[in-house]
Amino acid sequence: MKLWGGRFRKEENKLMEEFNKSFDYDKVLYKKDIEGSIAHVYMQVKCNLLTKEEGLSITNGLIDLHQDIDNKKLLLEGSYEDIHSFIEINLIKRIGEVGKKLHTARSRNDQVATDMRLFAKESTIEIIDLIKNFKTTLKEVAYKNCVIMPGYTHLQRAQVVTFKHHLMAYYSMFDRDEKRLANALEILDECPLGCGALAGTTHNINREHPKEKLGFSRVVENYIDGVSDRDYLLELMSDFSIIMMHLSRLSEELILWSSQEFKFIEMDDLYTTGSSIMPQKKNPDGAELIRGKTGRVYGNLFGLFTVMKGLPLAYNKDMQEDKEGFFDSVNTIQMCVSIMERMIATLKVNEENMKKAINNGFLNATEVADYLVKEGVTFRDAHEIVGNIVIFCEDNNKAIEDLELDELFKFSDVFKKDIYDFIDYENILNKGSKKNLL
Ligand code: ARG
Repeated sequence: MKLWGGRFRKEENKLMEEFNKSFDYDKVLYKKDIEGSIAHVYMQVKCNLLTKEEGLSITNGLIDLHQDIDNKKLLLEGSYEDIHSFIEINLIKRIGEVGKKLHTARSRNDQVATDMRLFAKESTIEIIDLIKNFKTTLKEVAYKNCVIMPGYTHLQRAQVVTFKHHLMAYYSMFDRDEKRLANALEILDECPLGCGALAGTTHNINREHPKEKLGFSRVVENYIDGVSDRDYLLELMSDFSIIMMHLSRLSEELILWSSQEFKFIEMDDLYTTGSSIMPQKKNPDGAELIRGKTGRVYGNLFGLFTVMKGLPLAYNKDMQEDKEGFFDSVNTIQMCVSIMERMIATLKVNEENMKKAINNGFLNATEVADYLVKEGVTFRDAHEIVGNIVIFCEDNNKAIEDLELDELFKFSDVFKKDIYDFIDYENILNKGSKKNLL
């Protein structure tokens, strides 16, 4: 069933018909397609393209269709080319001739552009809400666990930090993600209805009407751009990719921290799975899947970049390929943020093991150097002195704080008894800008 055919002498080849179809995946746009059509009819009546009665009959027909699809009285199936054909053909079937007036002053090109923007707006708002909720959880868990732990650079123990500060690093990342999405929403907030196929229409339409009805802030400036712009999908998918990169880094840490080698955290049974052969295993599959799914979100972004790169203006059918990847990315992001939020909310921090890990690795070496500087040694000399102390400790299997004062004295005569307090891990965090870690 098609919306076109008048100029064709032959039936479309079956394989071609299958190939051309997008209905299997663009059916998820049905709400947005109907919303866009109702706004279009509103404009048609206001601009005298339809009588009030005609407008009412089409609008009611569209509302009925919406309800019947929601209630599964009308199934989104059959051999339709796309969701637009499905809606229009079923409308005409139900309300008769007047339904054929719906498409006056509109093209599927501005129609699909409107549907996609509406869908993108709605799903982005949902994602922003999920991120907000995730940020709240991150903060709660962070503030509940102001526990000291080793901080790493190069995955080597570096300096003492707190689990709170570490987790709040992710809070900052997701805070930026939220802002990026809000910014993308602001940019995409334009209504393409009225652009027509690419060049507007000879009818006296008013683009402000559908813009207002659909809740867009502006109408698109240029018709050709309006039907062929997919930047907003690329921008959102770029933002999604950054979110996935953040989630993937956090996943990697959860996987490491829950390993027997680290044992810093325990992940809840709810979000871990077992092995079919090794009875002892508790695998962090949730985190691994998030790390793995990052690949498809990057892939969808690059898929669309590649679709768009050589397209002449304006609409080309290539652009139908924008949908599956975008829908998949939206679903993936929504799932991943939700699962990560639950994993963080339910994890248990192993305070003892985090503390134990601090005792190995000379995490107070920088503070020993700071002490020497405080006593008048230059930082470069202090660095060298502490380096030598570390070698000595390594050879003797000791921590710096285990050394006696006379042992320390061999390296520098400015050491005094107060060195031990100065380099005590808990005390370190009460000094200078480190107070922010608490
Ligand atoms: N299914 C099409 C798409 O997603 C709708 C627009 C069709 N426009 C056209 N000129 N054939 O892009």
